[in-house]
Amino acid sequence: MRVGVLGTGGVGQTLAAKNSSLGHDVTMGTRDVQAALARTDAGWGAKVLSEWQAEHPDVKLGTFAEAAAHGEIVFNATAGMASLAVLQAAGAENLDGKILVDVSNPLDFSSGMPPTLSVCNTDSLAEQIQRSFPGTKVVKSLNTMTSSLMVDPGQLAGGDHHAFVSGDDEEAKAEVTRILQEWFGWRNVLDLGDITSARGAEMIVPLWLRLMGGLQTPLATFKVVS
Ligand SMILES: NC(=O)c1ccc[n+]([C@@H]2O[C@H](COP(=O)([O-])OP(=O)(O)OC[C@H]3O[C@@H](n4cnc5c(N)ncnc54)[C@H](OP(=O)(O)O)[C@@H]3O)[C@@H](O)[C@H]2O)c1
Repeated sequence: MRVGVLGTGGVGQTLAAKNSSLGHDVTMGTRDVQAALARTDAGWGAKVLSEWQAEHPDVKLGTFAEAAAHGEIVFNATAGMASLAVLQAAGAENLDGKILVDVSNPLDFSSGMPPTLSVCNTDSLAEQIQRSFPGTKVVKSLNTMTSSLMVDPGQLAGGDHHAFVSGDDEEAKAEVTRILQEWFGWRNVLDLGDITSARGAEMIVPLWLRLMGGLQTPLATFKVVS
Protein backbone atom coordinates (compact mmCIF):
# COMPACT_ATOMS: atom_id res chain seq x y z
CA MET A 1 0.00 0.00 0.00
CA ARG A 2 1.11 3.60 -0.51
CA VAL A 3 1.51 5.23 2.90
CA GLY A 4 1.96 8.93 3.67
CA VAL A 5 3.53 9.89 6.97
CA LEU A 6 3.31 13.58 7.89
CA GLY A 7 6.13 14.29 10.33
CA THR A 8 9.84 13.65 10.65
CA GLY A 9 10.12 13.36 14.45
CA GLY A 10 10.37 10.18 16.49
CA VAL A 11 6.81 9.15 15.64
CA GLY A 12 7.12 9.86 11.94
CA GLN A 13 10.41 7.99 11.76
CA THR A 14 9.00 5.01 13.66
CA LEU A 15 5.82 4.73 11.60
CA ALA A 16 7.65 5.26 8.31
CA ALA A 17 10.31 2.66 9.16
CA LYS A 18 7.76 0.07 10.25
CA ASN A 19 5.49 0.56 7.25
CA SER A 20 8.46 0.44 4.91
CA SER A 21 9.81 -2.72 6.56
CA LEU A 22 6.45 -4.35 5.81
CA GLY A 23 6.94 -3.60 2.11
CA HIS A 24 4.69 -0.56 1.89
CA ASP A 25 5.64 2.36 -0.33
CA VAL A 26 6.21 5.23 2.12
CA THR A 27 6.67 8.96 1.63
CA MET A 28 7.46 11.00 4.73
CA GLY A 29 6.43 14.65 4.72
CA THR A 30 8.21 17.72 6.08
CA ARG A 31 8.02 21.49 5.55
CA ASP A 32 11.23 21.77 3.55
CA VAL A 33 13.14 18.64 2.55
CA GLN A 34 16.54 20.29 2.19
CA ALA A 35 16.20 22.16 5.48
CA ALA A 36 15.12 18.98 7.25
CA LEU A 37 18.08 17.02 5.86
CA ALA A 38 20.49 19.80 6.83
CA ARG A 39 19.55 19.60 10.51
CA THR A 40 22.12 18.24 12.92
CA ASP A 41 19.78 18.02 15.89
CA ALA A 42 17.08 15.43 16.53
CA GLY A 43 13.83 15.63 18.46
CA TRP A 44 12.88 13.44 21.39
CA GLY A 45 13.12 9.77 20.46
CA ALA A 46 14.26 10.64 16.95
CA LYS A 47 17.48 10.33 14.99
CA VAL A 48 19.14 13.10 13.00
CA LEU A 49 17.04 12.94 9.85
CA SER A 50 19.90 12.60 7.34
CA GLU A 51 21.30 9.67 9.35
CA TRP A 52 17.86 8.11 9.66
CA GLN A 53 17.27 8.43 5.94
CA ALA A 54 20.59 6.78 5.14
CA GLU A 55 19.38 3.80 7.18
CA HIS A 56 15.96 3.82 5.43
CA PRO A 57 16.68 4.52 1.76
CA ASP A 58 13.34 3.05 0.69
CA VAL A 59 11.43 5.84 2.45
CA LYS A 60 11.04 8.86 0.20
CA LEU A 61 11.13 12.36 1.69
CA GLY A 62 8.79 15.00 0.33
CA THR A 63 6.75 18.01 1.28
CA PHE A 64 3.67 17.57 3.42
CA ALA A 65 1.58 17.90 0.24
CA GLU A 66 3.63 15.27 -1.58
CA ALA A 67 3.38 12.82 1.30
CA ALA A 68 -0.38 13.34 1.60
CA ALA A 69 -0.88 12.95 -2.14
CA HIS A 70 1.23 9.78 -2.13
CA GLY A 71 -0.62 7.99 0.67
CA GLU A 72 -3.66 5.81 0.19
CA ILE A 73 -3.66 6.12 3.96
CA VAL A 74 -2.01 9.02 5.80
CA PHE A 75 -0.63 9.30 9.33
CA ASN A 76 -0.53 12.69 11.09
CA ALA A 77 2.62 12.61 13.22
CA THR A 78 3.21 16.33 13.55
CA ALA A 79 3.46 18.61 16.58
CA GLY A 80 -0.14 19.11 17.70
CA MET A 81 0.07 22.90 17.86
CA ALA A 82 1.07 22.87 14.18
CA SER A 83 -1.09 20.00 12.92
CA LEU A 84 -3.92 22.09 11.46
CA ALA A 85 -1.45 24.29 9.60
CA VAL A 86 0.45 21.23 8.39
CA LEU A 87 -2.74 19.64 7.10
CA GLN A 88 -3.71 22.88 5.34
CA ALA A 89 -0.28 22.82 3.70
CA ALA A 90 -0.80 19.17 2.81
CA GLY A 91 -3.97 20.20 1.03
CA ALA A 92 -7.57 19.08 1.48
CA GLU A 93 -7.56 17.75 -2.09
CA ASN A 94 -4.70 15.38 -1.18
CA LEU A 95 -6.55 14.08 1.90
CA ASP A 96 -10.05 13.87 0.48
CA GLY A 97 -11.69 10.46 0.86
CA LYS A 98 -8.66 9.05 2.70
CA ILE A 99 -8.19 7.72 6.20
CA LEU A 100 -6.07 10.08 8.30
CA VAL A 101 -4.71 8.33 11.38
CA ASP A 102 -4.23 11.17 13.84
CA VAL A 103 -1.42 10.31 16.26
CA SER A 104 -0.83 13.91 17.36
CA ASN A 105 -1.43 15.47 20.75
CA PRO A 106 -2.39 19.11 21.34
CA LEU A 107 0.52 19.73 23.69
CA ASP A 108 1.40 23.37 24.37
CA PHE A 109 4.99 23.70 25.64
CA SER A 110 4.99 27.52 25.54
CA SER A 111 4.94 27.77 29.36
CA GLY A 112 7.50 25.03 29.85
CA MET A 113 7.04 21.59 31.38
CA PRO A 114 4.69 19.94 31.88
CA PRO A 115 2.84 21.01 28.75
CA THR A 116 -0.83 21.97 28.84
CA LEU A 117 -3.49 20.90 26.35
CA SER A 118 -4.31 23.62 23.83
CA VAL A 119 -7.80 22.14 23.41
CA CYS A 120 -9.71 19.87 25.80
CA ASN A 121 -12.95 19.09 27.66
CA THR A 122 -15.49 20.23 25.06
CA ASP A 123 -13.36 19.74 21.96
CA SER A 124 -10.22 17.95 20.80
CA LEU A 125 -7.56 18.29 18.15
CA ALA A 126 -8.99 15.29 16.33
CA GLU A 127 -12.40 16.99 16.15
CA GLN A 128 -10.81 20.23 14.95
CA ILE A 129 -9.10 18.26 12.19
CA GLN A 130 -12.29 16.40 11.28
CA ARG A 131 -14.25 19.68 11.11
CA SER A 132 -11.55 21.31 8.98
CA PHE A 133 -11.35 18.35 6.61
CA PRO A 134 -14.91 16.98 6.33
CA GLY A 135 -13.98 14.86 3.30
CA THR A 136 -11.29 13.00 5.27
CA LYS A 137 -11.95 10.05 7.58
CA VAL A 138 -10.10 11.00 10.75
CA VAL A 139 -9.29 8.16 13.14
CA LYS A 140 -7.54 9.10 16.37
CA SER A 141 -5.18 6.38 17.50
CA LEU A 142 -1.74 5.53 18.90
CA ASN A 143 -1.39 8.90 20.67
CA THR A 144 -1.42 7.32 24.15
CA MET A 145 1.93 5.54 24.06
CA THR A 146 5.55 6.18 23.19
CA SER A 147 6.52 5.78 19.55
CA SER A 148 8.40 2.49 19.78
CA LEU A 149 5.36 0.80 21.35
CA MET A 150 3.10 1.95 18.51
CA VAL A 151 4.60 -0.59 16.15
CA ASP A 152 5.96 -3.09 18.67
CA PRO A 153 3.41 -3.52 21.49
CA GLY A 154 4.84 -6.93 22.41
CA GLN A 155 7.83 -5.32 24.10
CA LEU A 156 5.58 -4.45 27.08
CA ALA A 157 3.50 -6.84 29.19
CA GLY A 158 3.54 -9.37 26.37
CA GLY A 159 1.44 -6.97 24.31
CA ASP A 160 -1.51 -7.35 26.67
CA HIS A 161 -2.40 -3.66 26.79
CA HIS A 162 -4.64 -1.38 24.76
CA ALA A 163 -4.61 0.90 21.76
CA PHE A 164 -7.69 3.06 21.20
CA VAL A 165 -9.51 4.20 18.07
CA SER A 166 -11.96 7.13 17.83
CA GLY A 167 -13.75 8.30 14.71
CA ASP A 168 -17.03 8.92 12.95
CA ASP A 169 -16.51 6.48 10.08
CA GLU A 170 -17.03 2.87 11.15
CA GLU A 171 -15.30 1.39 8.10
CA ALA A 172 -12.29 3.64 8.62
CA LYS A 173 -12.03 2.58 12.27
CA ALA A 174 -12.29 -1.08 11.22
CA GLU A 175 -9.50 -0.58 8.68
CA VAL A 176 -7.26 1.17 11.23
CA THR A 177 -7.99 -1.61 13.71
CA ARG A 178 -6.95 -4.16 11.07
CA ILE A 179 -3.74 -2.22 10.42
CA LEU A 180 -2.94 -2.01 14.13
CA GLN A 181 -3.52 -5.74 14.51
CA GLU A 182 -2.10 -7.17 11.28
CA TRP A 183 0.72 -4.70 10.57
CA PHE A 184 1.76 -3.49 14.03
CA GLY A 185 0.88 -6.51 16.18
CA TRP A 186 -1.76 -5.10 18.51
CA ARG A 187 -3.95 -7.71 20.22
CA ASN A 188 -6.17 -5.25 22.08
CA VAL A 189 -7.74 -2.40 20.13
CA LEU A 190 -10.63 -0.65 21.86
CA ASP A 191 -13.16 1.40 19.88
CA LEU A 192 -13.95 4.40 22.11
CA GLY A 193 -16.73 5.72 19.86
CA ASP A 194 -17.19 8.68 17.56
CA ILE A 195 -14.63 11.43 17.04
CA THR A 196 -15.71 13.22 20.23
CA SER A 197 -14.26 10.28 22.17
CA ALA A 198 -10.82 11.52 21.07
CA ARG A 199 -11.20 14.07 23.89
CA GLY A 200 -10.59 11.25 26.35
CA ALA A 201 -7.70 9.81 24.36
CA GLU A 202 -6.04 13.23 24.27
CA MET A 203 -6.83 14.20 27.88
CA ILE A 204 -5.22 11.00 29.21
CA VAL A 205 -1.87 12.13 27.80
CA PRO A 206 -1.04 14.46 30.73
CA LEU A 207 -1.43 11.40 32.98
CA TRP A 208 0.85 9.45 30.66
CA LEU A 209 3.46 12.22 30.89
CA ARG A 210 3.34 12.08 34.71
CA LEU A 211 3.69 8.29 34.62
CA MET A 212 6.75 8.63 32.42
CA GLY A 213 8.27 11.05 34.91
CA GLY A 214 7.37 8.96 37.94
CA LEU A 215 8.42 5.63 36.47
CA GLN A 216 11.46 7.17 34.76
CA THR A 217 10.65 5.38 31.51
CA PRO A 218 8.43 6.05 28.50
CA LEU A 219 7.71 2.33 28.31
CA ALA A 220 4.41 2.52 30.18
CA THR A 221 0.91 2.67 28.77
CA PHE A 222 -2.72 1.82 29.46
CA LYS A 223 -4.44 -1.51 29.94
CA VAL A 224 -8.20 -1.47 30.41
CA VAL A 225 -9.72 -4.02 32.80
CA SER A 226 -13.47 -4.49 33.03
N1 LIG B 1 7.09 11.17 20.73
C1 LIG B 1 6.23 10.23 21.09
O1 LIG B 1 6.62 9.14 21.52
C2 LIG B 1 4.75 10.48 20.91
C3 LIG B 1 3.84 9.55 21.40
C4 LIG B 1 2.47 9.74 21.17
C5 LIG B 1 2.05 10.86 20.45
N2 LIG B 1 2.95 11.76 20.01
C6 LIG B 1 2.50 12.91 19.23
O2 LIG B 1 2.91 12.67 17.87
C7 LIG B 1 3.22 13.91 17.25
C8 LIG B 1 4.65 13.83 16.70
O3 LIG B 1 5.54 13.76 17.78
P1 LIG B 1 7.12 13.65 17.54
O4 LIG B 1 7.74 13.53 18.88
O5 LIG B 1 7.42 12.62 16.52
O6 LIG B 1 7.55 15.02 16.84
P2 LIG B 1 7.23 16.55 17.09
O7 LIG B 1 8.53 17.21 17.37
O8 LIG B 1 6.11 16.76 18.03
O9 LIG B 1 6.74 16.99 15.62
C9 LIG B 1 7.63 16.95 14.56
C10 LIG B 1 6.93 17.31 13.28
O10 LIG B 1 6.08 18.47 13.46
C11 LIG B 1 6.38 19.42 12.43
N3 LIG B 1 6.26 20.78 12.98
C12 LIG B 1 6.68 21.23 14.18
N4 LIG B 1 6.44 22.54 14.30
C13 LIG B 1 5.89 22.93 13.12
C14 LIG B 1 5.41 24.18 12.64
N5 LIG B 1 5.46 25.29 13.37
N6 LIG B 1 4.88 24.21 11.41
C15 LIG B 1 4.80 23.08 10.65
N7 LIG B 1 5.26 21.86 11.07
C16 LIG B 1 5.77 21.80 12.28
C17 LIG B 1 7.81 19.16 12.04
O11 LIG B 1 7.96 19.58 10.70
P3 LIG B 1 9.40 19.53 9.99
O12 LIG B 1 9.58 18.12 9.56
O13 LIG B 1 9.26 20.48 8.87
O14 LIG B 1 10.39 19.97 11.02
C18 LIG B 1 7.93 17.67 12.20
O15 LIG B 1 7.61 16.99 11.01
C19 LIG B 1 3.03 15.00 18.30
O16 LIG B 1 1.75 15.56 18.15
C20 LIG B 1 3.13 14.23 19.61
O17 LIG B 1 2.40 14.86 20.67
C21 LIG B 1 4.29 11.60 20.23
